[in-house]
This record gives sequence, structure tokens and C-alpha cells, in this order.
Amino acid sequence: MHLCLAFWGLLAHLSTSLARTPDEWRGRSTYQVITDRFARSDGNVTAPCDVTKNEYCGGTWKGIEQKLDYIYNMGFNAIWISPITKNTPTGYHGYYQTDLYTLNENFGTEKDLKDLSDALHERDMYLMVDVVTNHFGSVESDPNIDYSQYYPFNNASYFHPYCEIDYDNQTSAEICWLYSNLPDVRTEDQNVVNAYSTWISQLVANYSIDGIRIDSVKDVDKASMPPFCEAAGVYCLGELSNNDPSYSYPYQSVLNGGGIINYPLYFSFNETFVYKGFSSTEKLAYNIYLDRNNSIDSNLHGTFTENHDNPRIPFHNPDIALAANAIAWTILTDGIPIIYQGQEQHLAGGDDPGCREAMWLAENGSYDDTTLLYNTTAYLNQIRTWAVQHSEGYTHYENVVLNYSEDQIAIRKDVVRFILTFAGVDQPQGTYTTVDAGFPPNSSVVDLISCKTYTSNGAGEVTADIGGGAMVIMMQADFIQGSEMCGY
Ligand SMILES: *[C@@H]1O[C@H](CO)[C@@H](O)[C@H](O)[C@H]1NC(C)=O
Ligand SMILES: *[C@@H]1O[C@H](CO)[C@@H](O)[C@H](O)[C@H]1NC(C)=O
Ligand SMILES: *[C@@H]1O[C@H](CO)[C@@H](O)[C@H](O)[C@H]1NC(C)=O
Ligand SMILES: *[C@@H]1O[C@H](CO)[C@@H](O)[C@H](O)[C@H]1NC(C)=O
Ligand SMILES: *[C@@H]1O[C@H](CO)[C@@H](O)[C@H](O)[C@H]1NC(C)=O
Ligand SMILES: *[C@@H]1O[C@H](CO)[C@@H](O)[C@H](O)[C@H]1NC(C)=O
Ligand SMILES: *[C@@H]1O[C@H](CO)[C@@H](O)[C@H](O)[C@H]1NC(C)=O
Ligand SMILES: *[C@@H]1O[C@H](CO)[C@@H](O)[C@H](O)[C@H]1NC(C)=O
Ligand SMILES: *[C@@H]1O[C@H](CO)[C@@H](O)[C@H](O)[C@H]1NC(C)=O
Ligand SMILES: *[C@@H]1O[C@H](CO)[C@@H](O)[C@H](O)[C@H]1NC(C)=O
Repeated sequence: MHLCLAFWGLLAHLSTSLARTPDEWRGRSTYQVITDRFARSDGNVTAPCDVTKNEYCGGTWKGIEQKLDYIYNMGFNAIWISPITKNTPTGYHGYYQTDLYTLNENFGTEKDLKDLSDALHERDMYLMVDVVTNHFGSVESDPNIDYSQYYPFNNASYFHPYCEIDYDNQTSAEICWLYSNLPDVRTEDQNVVNAYSTWISQLVANYSIDGIRIDSVKDVDKASMPPFCEAAGVYCLGELSNNDPSYSYPYQSVLNGGGIINYPLYFSFNETFVYKGFSSTEKLAYNIYLDRNNSIDSNLHGTFTENHDNPRIPFHNPDIALAANAIAWTILTDGIPIIYQGQEQHLAGGDDPGCREAMWLAENGSYDDTTLLYNTTAYLNQIRTWAVQHSEGYTHYENVVLNYSEDQIAIRKDVVRFILTFAGVDQPQGTYTTVDAGFPPNSSVVDLISCKTYTSNGAGEVTADIGGGAMVIMMQADFIQGSEMCGY
């Protein structure tokens, strides 16, 4: 009897610990990988990759597995990889799928993908897989699409007739086609919903997937999302590229407690960091509250500052301090951080496909783990992970703007207070006072970047030195004992 109970208890434990919930993702930090462009199985670091050609460059799941330490040593405990299903010959990015039940052979075999999943789990890292329910891909455009090539949707009846999207019209976004070669699946059809549910539950089980990133959810029938996420049984992260908070954040309610890729905050971050100016910082501060007010939980969104669909920050501004502060913003503000491959190498690609550079061709050497940004990323993940592990409230805390100016913003996230700057390396030396920082009066506070120690005043404020584009990241000295940060 006791044995029996223990057995079922163990089973229940196993099944819940395998299907990773939104709550389990809170403390995670994610590295975004474009499978075709990260690493090759043969380890070749001179193989050419002309991003303008939109062709496969040879990256594989085996390549990722072999280079996992490069990611792990930067402090990441999750990766997001490109869609894994069979694609058209030009679908190196994975978004032109043709068959849900066949893997993309360019990326490897079933065993390779399972090996990658195992290698991740051995390091206590999570696997997030990109999935597409909105459309299939084709070499031909409408009306020359051969629907018989698709599986399981092997007939035109599973797709909407072709029409061009009018983005001011939600119905049109849902039933029309992103491009004339991307047949739009009828996700409002119950047979389609059932087929997708069967597929995703098998996929998650077969490869021990911990989370899914869902492509272009604003173009999919909203009602099809809850059953899909339910069947997946893991954290769902929905992608919708839109800068309107009141349009975007409500999607959180159809993602079964998951979140969205935080585009609204990305757009205002980009405006602040790249355009600069007091009004844009003011807007960023305002948007942080809009995010909170319009979200069910702002800590379950994916926070990013670069990705495979937009020009990288150094494309607009090559300042290295700006790049470091952008990484700090990504890792330290609310949400689950997502750093895009190559951000730590200061890659500077422009709009898609320019920003999809092969990692092995990075200008200062392949997979260089000694660059300033690699080191900065590792340190920021170390700081965040310390806070996650030592402050129970950290991953639920909604960050508060303490103050801002034309080129600085000061934020409190629970036990961490940080000042980021958009001024770049030429920023003059000065001081910055964090008002209402909430430190106990007269307590010892450490800036984890300069390792300087300050004492808070009777009102709990700290006046910190700032300059040269360096960020300031403060925690109480008592709190970091044993962390080995700044010698504590
Ligand atoms: C790497 O690939 C390039 C181009 O395909 C080839 O010329 C070179 O010999 C390869 N290097 C190694 C070490 O295999
Ligand atoms: C295939 O799709 C066409 C066009 O929508 C439809 O007329 C036909 O009945 C469908 N065939 C089957 C077997 O579903
Ligand atoms: C919105 O798009 C749908 C589908 O194309 C169309 O039927 C409808 O008339 C459009 N509505 C407006 C207001 O344009
Ligand atoms: C999952 O694995 C089973 C058993 O090998 C296979 O029949 C099924 O097609 C797989 N499904 C997916 C979506 O990979
Ligand atoms: C980011 O800012 C730059 C520079 O002002 C601008 O050109 C670009 O369009 C912005 N990017 C996005 C995605 O809004
Ligand atoms: C957010 O909500 C708070 C509390 O209701 C309100 O004071 C604040 O003005 C709101 N801010 C924004 C930007 O919506
Ligand atoms: C490459 O190294 C040089 C010299 O250290 C540096 O100036 C440059 O910014 C680096 N490039 C990148 C992309 O990090
Ligand atoms: C950053 O680089 C320094 C100097 O090489 C090293 O001592 C430190 O451990 C690195 N920090 C991290 C988090 O990797
Ligand atoms: C915010 O910072 C500015 C510039 O550093 C300072 O002048 C101002 O007093 C601060 N505002 C508050 C409310 O503390
Ligand atoms: C903080 O220090 C000041 C000056 O030493 C002292 O007057 C004040 O009582 C202290 N406040 C607290 C709460 O310890």
C-alpha cells in the first residue's frame, strides 16, 4: 500500500517535472539559436555563409551540442532553437515547413535532436523549440501551390484561399497570407486544431521539450491557441511583432499562463537606446508601467533587445558600452531574458537576413569566450541567478522606475537596483543619486560593476559614481556574502 502510493507519487512527480510550466521558466535565462547559423557538425569555422543568399549554411543540432559549453559558460540555462520540421529547400530558418512529422534533415537526425535534448538536461538547461501553426511554406506562389506535398494538411481545403493581409484589419491578419508562398492554415477548423494538438503533444514528449515559442500568433485564430498550449503542456511564448501594448499584452490570456515576446517594450527600448533624448526615456519609463498594467504577469514575457528579424543594436550604433547596457537591460528587467546568438560578439547585421550571420565567421574569431560582451553577459547572468536563488520574491517582483534622465534610467527589481546609461563610452564622470531605492538606512551597498562600496543615507538613498558608459548594479553587501562577486 505504502509502496504503491510512493510509486504513484513518484510518477506524478516525474510527469510534472518533465512538462515545464511557466512558473518553472521564471528564473531561466535563454539564448536564442538560429540552428542553421550556430555551429556545424564538422566544426568547420571557415565554411562560407552569405546571408544575402537565403541558403542553408550547414549549422546542425550536433553542432549546437558540441558548442553547448560556450552557451552554458555564459550563464544561460535554456536555449531556443529554430523550428525542427521539414521545410522547403530555402527554409534554412525553419519557417517554411511542409511536413509536421518529418524532421528537417539539414539539421540532423532524430537521434541528434534527442542527444541535444539530453545534453541540455544533463546541464539542467531547458530546450525551447520554435513552432509554426499559422502557415506552411512553398517554393511556388499562389495559385501554383502543390498541396499534396504537405503533411498532414495535404489538401487545399485545410488552407484559406489566397488574399493579401491588411494589417489594420484583424480578420484579414488571421485569414490572409503573410506572403503569396505561405499558405495560411485554417486554424479555426476543429480538425486542424485537433491535428495540431496531437502533433504538439507527441513532439514535446518525443524530444523532451521544455517550452515552445509560437511564431506569428497575431496572424492565427485566437481561439486555436489555448487548446494548442494545453496539448503542449509546457510554457508557451507567443511571438507577435507589434508596438501597441493594449493590442499585444492581452494575448497572454490565450497562451495558458505563458507570455509574449515583449515587442512593445523592445520598440520603446530601441527608441531610447538608439535615438536617445529625454522624451524617449520618459516614454520608456511610462511603457514599463503600461506593460505591467496590461499584462497578467509581466515576468512571464520574453525580454529581448536583438533577434533574427530586426537590425542588431551595433548596426545602428557601434558603441560597446551601449551594447553592454542593452544586455544588462535584457537580463535585469522583468521577464525571461533572451539574448540572441552573436549579441555577445557585438555582431552588427542589419535587417533580416543581414542579422542572421554564421557564428563561426564572427570577426574576432569563432566562439571567442574572452570578449568583453561575453564576459559581461556571463556576469549579468551570474547576478540574476544569485538573485533568483536567494530572494524568493525576485521572479515575481514587478520592476519600478526610480528615476530617469536624458541618458540614464534607474530601476529597482527587488534586491537589485541598477542604473543603465545610453550615453556610451564618452559619458563624463559624475554621480547619480537613486531616490526611493528602498535600501535600509546606513547600510553597506556594493556596485557589482566597479566593486565600490557605498553607504546608504538615512533615507535609504545611494549616490553612486557613474561615467564612461559603465552601468551601476547595486545589491546590499549582506545579501551577496558567499557569491564570490566583488570578493564577497
Ligand atoms: C571548411 O569548409 C571549406 C569550404 O567548404 C573548405 O574549403 C575547407 O577545406 C573546410 N575546412 C575543413 C577543416 O574541413
Ligand atoms: C480538397 O480541397 C478542395 C478545394 O478546397 C475541395 O474541393 C476538395 O473537396 C478537397 N478534397 C478532400 C478529399 O478533402
Ligand atoms: C476585414 O478583412 C476581411 C477578410 O479579408 C474582410 O472580409 C472584411 O470585409 C474586412 N473588414 C473591413 C472593415 O475592411
Ligand atoms: C513521436 O514518436 C512516435 C514513436 O516513435 C512516432 O510514431 C510519432 O510520429 C512521433 N511524433 C512526432 C510529432 O514526432
Ligand atoms: C530602432 O532605432 C533605429 C534608430 O533610430 C531605427 O532606425 C529603427 O527603425 C528602430 N528599430 C525598430 C525595430 O524600431
Ligand atoms: C498603471 O496603473 C497604475 C495603478 O492603477 C496607475 O497609477 C498608472 O497611471 C498606470 N500607468 C500606466 C502607464 O498605465
Ligand atoms: C574586434 O576586436 C577589435 C580589437 O580588439 C575591437 O576593436 C572590435 O570592436 C572587435 N569587434 C567586435 C565585433 O567585437
Ligand atoms: C570576466 O573576465 C575576468 C578576467 O578575465 C574573469 O576574472 C572573470 O571571471 C570573468 N567573469 C565571468 C563572469 O566570466
Ligand atoms: C532624477 O534625476 C535627476 C537628474 O539626475 C535629478 O535632478 C532629479 O532630482 C531626480 N529626480 C528625483 C525625483 O529624484
Ligand atoms: C544613520 O546614520 C546617521 C549618521 O551617522 C545617524 O544620525 C542616524 O541615526 C542613522 N540612522 C539609522 C536608522 O541608523
